[in-house]
Amino acid sequence: MENGLFGIENLDTYFVVGILVFFGILETIAGYLHSSKRTGSDWIQEVGSFVVLAVLIKPGIVLAVWSLGVLLFPNIQFTLSHWSIWLMLPFYLLIDDVLQYWYHRSAHEYEWLWKLHRPHHQAEEMGFFVSYRNAALYYVLMPNLWWVAIVTFLGGAPSVALGLILKQLVIIGSHSRIKWDAFLYKYKIFNPLMTLLERIIITPAFHHAHHGKSIKDGISDPNGNYGNTFSLWDQIFGTAIFTRQFPMEYGLQTNPKDKWTASWFYPFIKSDKPESEIAKGFKKQNNTKAEPTEIHLEKGEKYLWCQCGFSRNQPFCDGSHHGTKHKPLLFEAQRSGKVRLCNCKATKAAPFCDDSHITLT
Ligand code: FES
Repeated sequence: MENGLFGIENLDTYFVVGILVFFGILETIAGYLHSSKRTGSDWIQEVGSFVVLAVLIKPGIVLAVWSLGVLLFPNIQFTLSHWSIWLMLPFYLLIDDVLQYWYHRSAHEYEWLWKLHRPHHQAEEMGFFVSYRNAALYYVLMPNLWWVAIVTFLGGAPSVALGLILKQLVIIGSHSRIKWDAFLYKYKIFNPLMTLLERIIITPAFHHAHHGKSIKDGISDPNGNYGNTFSLWDQIFGTAIFTRQFPMEYGLQTNPKDKWTASWFYPFIKSDKPESEIAKGFKKQNNTKAEPTEIHLEKGEKYLWCQCGFSRNQPFCDGSHHGTKHKPLLFEAQRSGKVRLCNCKATKAAPFCDDSHITLT
């Protein structure tokens, strides 16, 4: 295979390890590792996932594409090797990133893919290794890893190597607890710079919002901010929120704390927790019913009304909408007292009952 960046094999891997070590040292100095709530299972999941991805999955995909390419399409091998790195780098990076945006978004909207991505959102705190929490199969199916292999086969290995370094710098930086952007939001003088920057690359604030527990805090949006390197796709496809704040709580609304074996090897190993989405035989239940719930709300309190119908805590959201295209409706009670909240999900006055259930029965 063609040599990597500056003719040095695996230079990108050394850089990526260097970026991880850099953020790891910063988090240690800041005391985050000392105060970390991570369990041994979390560490195995994150470090193990990184090692297997770097040593087995990524090289395996490159080897598979390379072997197939040599066998079936030998004429196109290295056909783009004459491209300047300034042309090849954006070509590689932009296609890579749009593929990853849609793959990541699909992982939130389709149940089977969500189950592979779910370990990523089980993390209850951010950290430099969090970006590597996913089921192994999630990486094997990741389209942009196959794109890396294709571009390498076409002769773009140096651009891929440089692109991977830039990507990982943004991605590891946006997952880390070192919020390098937080300081810059405080001063007006940096406002134009940060407005420009956050509209190009993924900042920690932008990505932390994606990991926040629920939209209830007015900062988080686990069903938005899907971008990896560039925020461009979220802006184009209407999923971007820029709050410049950081969630107080991270993770899933309902987290049965599956073992790393089930999280990593799903669907080959299932969770032993019956309530887990990755347990054997788990199925989302439709919990809508044709009658409202009369309930007392407190003025000024915020509530999440379930729109998907799968919540086991109707009429409120319990996070079961993950893996569907639905998200909850956030509303604030305007007065204290009893109201009728819709359970059939057909109301036109959400979240309140408008008697639409009568027409359904
Ligand atoms: S459980 Fe969240 S919208 Fe239904």
